[in-house]
Amino acid sequence: MNSIENFLDSLHHAHLDNARQLYVAKTIGSGQSERDISPVTNFVFEFFLYNSLYAVDWETSYAEGSLVYHDRQSPITERNMQIALEKFCRQKCGESSEFLIEAFLPLAGLDDLAGEWTLITTDDPRRAEEGKRFFAKIAEIGQLAANNDLRPTGKTFDLIGDCRYFAYGVRNNIFHGSKSLGQIYEADQARRIGVYDLFLRCLNSLFFLATGRKEHGAGLCQLPMVQRCGTSQIEVPLTKVNRLLMLKMMKPEDSMLHWKLFRSNQDVPILSSNDRRALFYPSAGKDFFFPLLVGLPFCTDFFFYEEARHRDGKIVLRRAIRELVPNVECNELDASENECLEFEFDSVSRRAWIVHEDNMTFLNKDILIAFYFHRGDSPGEGGSGQSWDSNLLPQLLAKSVSDIGCHVLTDGEPGGLLDEVATQCQKVTLANSHRGRDYFYGVIPKP
Ligand SMILES: C[S@@+](CC[C@H](N)C(=O)[O-])C[C@H]1O[C@@H](n2cnc3c(N)ncnc32)[C@H](O)[C@@H]1O
Repeated sequence: MNSIENFLDSLHHAHLDNARQLYVAKTIGSGQSERDISPVTNFVFEFFLYNSLYAVDWETSYAEGSLVYHDRQSPITERNMQIALEKFCRQKCGESSEFLIEAFLPLAGLDDLAGEWTLITTDDPRRAEEGKRFFAKIAEIGQLAANNDLRPTGKTFDLIGDCRYFAYGVRNNIFHGSKSLGQIYEADQARRIGVYDLFLRCLNSLFFLATGRKEHGAGLCQLPMVQRCGTSQIEVPLTKVNRLLMLKMMKPEDSMLHWKLFRSNQDVPILSSNDRRALFYPSAGKDFFFPLLVGLPFCTDFFFYEEARHRDGKIVLRRAIRELVPNVECNELDASENECLEFEFDSVSRRAWIVHEDNMTFLNKDILIAFYFHRGDSPGEGGSGQSWDSNLLPQLLAKSVSDIGCHVLTDGEPGGLLDEVATQCQKVTLANSHRGRDYFYGVIPKP
């Protein structure tokens, strides 16, 4: 392998690795517990990678077949090296928008980019104005990517260049110590750094796509989640996503999956207190948070079937509910051998059950379902071996609510997904999917 490919492989590896990490810190000698230091650490590492990338004169390197660095003795500024990197990427894009859209699409998953939290803390009014413009441009790039309209034009690269220039200034502040750790961990500041980090990750991803790599950090990113639900809205900011990932209460792909499937302003029903509509999740383990989030607009009762009795099952369930509905009162209901927590959301009472029975017993219960959620199950290794997505699915769908049908979100394992249901579902492939599986989502009418 030549020096170019060797160099690219090692940086690409570090770029993917950084995208998969959540960083925590512990102060030596203090009794303080660990603190989450993502996304600032991810941002700093991504900047090291970016520095290494723009230090190389890629046009000359490819022409000569070996690595050639920009000559730092000659009057080339950091900024001009960065511009040269963008020019190289633009050439590699040719006429096609493919790499640009793939690399920058995650910016469309950011929310509220004109909100109060985007206002940077500075005494310099010029810098404050630049900050406002930065977030507006991030929103514009994301929107263009989402509309398949991010073309390799001068206008696009001007937008990218302006954002890069601003993010570079932030990097200088962090490295030059004008920010204390306390400031970095302030919630709005952390949220803004999450955007700088994502932008830089997208820019590096563009370069890696342009140099022939398929996987990239933008595809592995985490996003905030916003879920409309009846007359309310649940907001899960990136900092909370990171915390829930750290606690293993979410899977790596959940925030991206949510954006792809549930972010749209689709009509959500308004539930009344008389409604009884269930979500059924066989072989659920302690995977409560995400199904609750996506099921709340449609369901009043959540049946998590899990034959094993985990000591902390109910604790994790309570925590998941309270992460979604902060400070909600969560009452324990008598559920004989099982566990049940009752809480209110959007003026409707809801119940979440952990049922310690074989999944199959659900089929004999007189319960109407509006959501079937299933993932992570398997034929062996503690999985049920039951074919919920093929043989058992017709019996399950017969239990769906007649007016709205049944939302189905499944990875189709074990045994694969019934063809006639698969054709009514959207298939979602995600780079960071747990067990590398695809997801299928659709609303299936009652048969
Ligand atoms: C591989 S884990 C997956 C957990 C969860 N779905 C996730 O993705 O995190 C499978 C779980 O199914 C449970 N399980 C296996 N067979 C079952 C059955 N017949 N009825 C109920 N639970 C079952 C196991 O106890 C185990 O916790």
